Amino acid sequence: MKRMLSGIKPTGRVTLGNYIGAIKPFVSYQDEYEMFIFVANLHSMTVYQEPKELRQNTKDLIALYIAAGLDPKKCTLFLQSDVLEHAQLGWYLGCMVNMGELSRMTQYKDKVAKGESIGAGIFNYPSLMNADILMYDPDYVPVGEDQKQHVELCRDIAERFNSRYSDTFKIPEPLIAKVGSRIMDLQNPTKKMSKSDETSKGCIYILDDINVSKKKIKSAVTDSDSHVHFDPIHKPGISNLLEIYSILSNRSIEDIENQYEGKGYGEFKTDLAEIVGQELEKIQKRYKEITTGSYLDDILEEGAQKARIIARKKLSKVERKIGITIKKR
Ligand code: AMP
Ligand code: TRP
Repeated sequence: MKRMLSGIKPTGRVTLGNYIGAIKPFVSYQDEYEMFIFVANLHSMTVYQEPKELRQNTKDLIALYIAAGLDPKKCTLFLQSDVLEHAQLGWYLGCMVNMGELSRMTQYKDKVAKGESIGAGIFNYPSLMNADILMYDPDYVPVGEDQKQHVELCRDIAERFNSRYSDTFKIPEPLIAKVGSRIMDLQNPTKKMSKSDETSKGCIYILDDINVSKKKIKSAVTDSDSHVHFDPIHKPGISNLLEIYSILSNRSIEDIENQYEGKGYGEFKTDLAEIVGQELEKIQKRYKEITTGSYLDDILEEGAQKARIIARKKLSKVERKIGITIKKR
């Protein structure tokens, strides 16, 4: 079985964008791949997190992975901070990446462009991400479009390490879904739906009130010609809704376009609101079951134990190769 690994930061509440772009695809891969999925809580610290909220968001994210259908028996689920080796390998890999390479990362550049105050963690963020990935030798790293550049840097660093010290890391491939890797804001379909827009009416949160979410779909911005047709350039609003519809109903966009031929946006949006509502209801019900008792703690402990075995082995190998270890064995 080929191996797959990915992580999501527990910053803010989980959105429909995270669900469609990341969590749902993970679930669909679990029967075909050996999966490692973690909560990137060390990465979340690059921006101040209110401790109480961080705890809640971390718990919610893990619970949502499972509520969305990830099976802890098939997939190793863990917290990044529970496997100390990530930070240590991140340091070694950070010493192998150039300032120029890190300065070219869009995520960092965007923050500089906005004139935000930037912590050193943001700049060095990709080194820790490289460690997260290379530690487990995955074949594929499923991520959203925005993370592709980080996985490409990770490949470069793996190659650099392998050529400097001999073959150590597998070179991972980013895996970007064709549909749904960029769900847009419902009010401003030229902008990505994002959990940092807490006040926005354009963002659906998975654990939000279902009626509120349905209303957000019904009041989503669309253009004026009322023809349900997929054309992201000229009709970004309806195209975004078509993508959401297609993914949640497992039907092709073409098939959906045919169904609404000659009908207006109203009917389309009412049906989509129902589909979104049903999906959220299913997830929220399971979320409630999972978050009572100590189930989550047990899952995380089991996951961390499995991950640590691999991480320790890989870190010792790296430390032997680079000359940090002086012990013979
Ligand atoms: P983030 O919320 O930026 O930490 O992203 C977590 C994961 O969800 C990453 O794999 C993102 O690429 C994905 N993701 C976030 N927002 C969206 C979106 N609007 N559409 C599709 N995928 C998304
Ligand atoms: N940087 C990713 C994000 O912002 C989260 C992440 C951290 C990640 N480590 C990873 C994703 C390793 C894939 C693999 O979404």
